[in-house]
Amino acid sequence: MLKLLIMLLVAYLLGAIPTGMWLGKLFFKTDLRKAGSGNIGTTNTFRVLGKTAGTIVLVTDIVKGALATLQPVIFGAPVIHGWAVNGLLIGLAAILGNMFSIFDGFKGGKAVATSAGILAGYNFPFFIISAIIFASLVYLSSMVSVASMAATTIVTFLSLIYQDGYLTTVAFVVTLFVFYRHRANLERIQHGTESMVPFGLYRKY
Ligand code: G3P
Repeated sequence: MLKLLIMLLVAYLLGAIPTGMWLGKLFFKTDLRKAGSGNIGTTNTFRVLGKTAGTIVLVTDIVKGALATLQPVIFGAPVIHGWAVNGLLIGLAAILGNMFSIFDGFKGGKAVATSAGILAGYNFPFFIISAIIFASLVYLSSMVSVASMAATTIVTFLSLIYQDGYLTTVAFVVTLFVFYRHRANLERIQHGTESMVPFGLYRKY
């Protein structure tokens, strides 16, 4: 039980590390929370701080999620009441860390890259498939927010192929989190003011 609690805590803390926010403050003297969309995640880091910082945040967020998820593999799987708690569920703690970070006054990111990391740690081939779906949706919609919400929904349905209750349940919960965290984006989409990527099919010129 103690082992499980430590893994949950480690997962939360890994998810809570606000890479983009710290990178912005340390190297760019910029508070991401006051620039662009105000989000501290990968997309706003690319938007405000550029490609190098954006790539660093993307990679570290994915690695953080994957590490949180791989803890039971590294340290041995914990069991509660005979029910094996696997890395995927521990990974949820990393998502909570990302969305409600202790280092950001219990605010935080939109759970997308961290969730991708959890999938990378749990089922790497499915992560690759999901990443391709996400990238295609970014191109087609020209909006990362739309791609994030659509991809998590599609991935939840696709996960049924694996007949893995953990995977589908966590994917469903992640989808709910992602929609919840994209409320401001949904409003901007409705008003036609959402940011577009410069390489998308419907980008504004
Ligand atoms: O992963 C977050 C993305 O879906 C939206 O980010 O900065 O455009 O709100 P942003």
